[in-house]
Amino acid sequence: MQVAIDGPASAGKSTVAKIVAKNLNFIYIDTGAMYRACTLIAQKGNVDYGDEAEILKLLAKNKIEFKNGEKEQKVFINGQDVSLAIRTPEITANVSQVSALPGIREKMVELQRKMAGENNVIMDGRDIGTTVLPNADVKIFLIASVASRAKRRFLDFKEKGIHQDLAEIEHDIEERDYKDSHRKISPLKKATDAIELDTTNLTIDEVVAKITTLIEKKQKKQ
Ligand code: DC
Repeated sequence: MQVAIDGPASAGKSTVAKIVAKNLNFIYIDTGAMYRACTLIAQKGNVDYGDEAEILKLLAKNKIEFKNGEKEQKVFINGQDVSLAIRTPEITANVSQVSALPGIREKMVELQRKMAGENNVIMDGRDIGTTVLPNADVKIFLIASVASRAKRRFLDFKEKGIHQDLAEIEHDIEERDYKDSHRKISPLKKATDAIELDTTNLTIDEVVAKITTLIEKKQKKQ
């Protein structure tokens, strides 16, 4: 069973995907973390975020690994845990540029399909239902107002000890939405067969319950 959850930044995708995956014993794959890891590698290598050839060279030299930990998926670069380092405002501000590079996407999509394999997976991102897993059994498109998404990210950052202005976060989210939806390759777009869920006025538990019901209905049919 493959479940695709797409949607704009901070709509709650990873929070709910993690819980649903744990409840149903599915493997959770956070594809945004992969593009963030590529961005961190570019930053560490002092390479321009638009320099595809140089970033690809660095990717060949650095080992990125994803491991499913107790609570969440952890990301490692050359054995070093970078799960927090990929969430800084600097990486967040530049990940859209790196993830728009065709060669980087090609590599990541290949990896994502390999990771999904024959497993029961919940994969979240921007192009999962449209490109990575076009035959996914359940496709969800999560949306929420910019204000509510900014507030969520603000609280999420606070918990991680990162301080960023709420207005700045709101601005970053709008800019990232624009870039992610207007890039040439696999832009953020609702798949025609995806179910749209607006999470603005829903609690995490309510979203989890709705998605779980959709998955269980599909499981019964198979
Ligand atoms: O979900 P996130 O905020 O961690 O994603 C970081 C960026 O990666 C996002 O701005 C767009 C990009 N991304 C993508 O292009 N395709 C995906 N499947 C997932 C993320």
